[in-house]
Amino acid sequence: EIHFFFPKQQTLAIIKPDAMAEHREEILGEIRAAGFSISQLKEAVLSRDMAEELYREHRDKPFYRQLVDFMCSGPCMLLVLTKENTVEEWRSMMGPTDPVLAKVTAPGSLRARFASDILHNALHGSSNQEHAQEKIHFLFGDITSDRDLTSNGKMDP
Ligand code: PPS
Repeated sequence: EIHFFFPKQQTLAIIKPDAMAEHREEILGEIRAAGFSISQLKEAVLSRDMAEELYREHRDKPFYRQLVDFMCSGPCMLLVLTKENTVEEWRSMMGPTDPVLAKVTAPGSLRARFASDILHNALHGSSNQEHAQEKIHFLFGDITSDRDLTSNGKMDP
């Protein structure tokens, strides 16, 4: 029997404005139940500058302006998730970007359940480790303490 061990890895997760009012507690509950540690968590309304920087890689896409407008339209929940293989696991838990596809190919995924369309798709997750580190640094600055906010949303002493 062969076991593979992955070192702990971080990813950036965002509960987008469309999912905040109705689904945020359920999403946070599922994140915890899936074994992610929530190392950082903050609610914020992104400024236009922040949203533009967050989605810099997509600046030439036709949907860029819409996406930036939407991400600034209300509060988001910004999370740093820690787990083995967390970038991939979080993306798999979210499901495909477009909920129409998600409902067919991954009906149990969070986007299949909570997203309404490809723009209002409830959640963000970094696409790779390099982006994760860059965006986490951008949104949270230098993280000096390793906090685990998994159980009660409060910082451990
Ligand atoms: S890509 O081109 O494969 O990198 O794009 P993808 O990862 O699928 O999507 C990147 C983010 O852009 C949003 N998106 C869209 N918004 C509006 N309209 C359209 N057609 C569209 N296509 C993609 C999508 O919600 C992704 O946001 P995040 O926050 O990264 O999931």
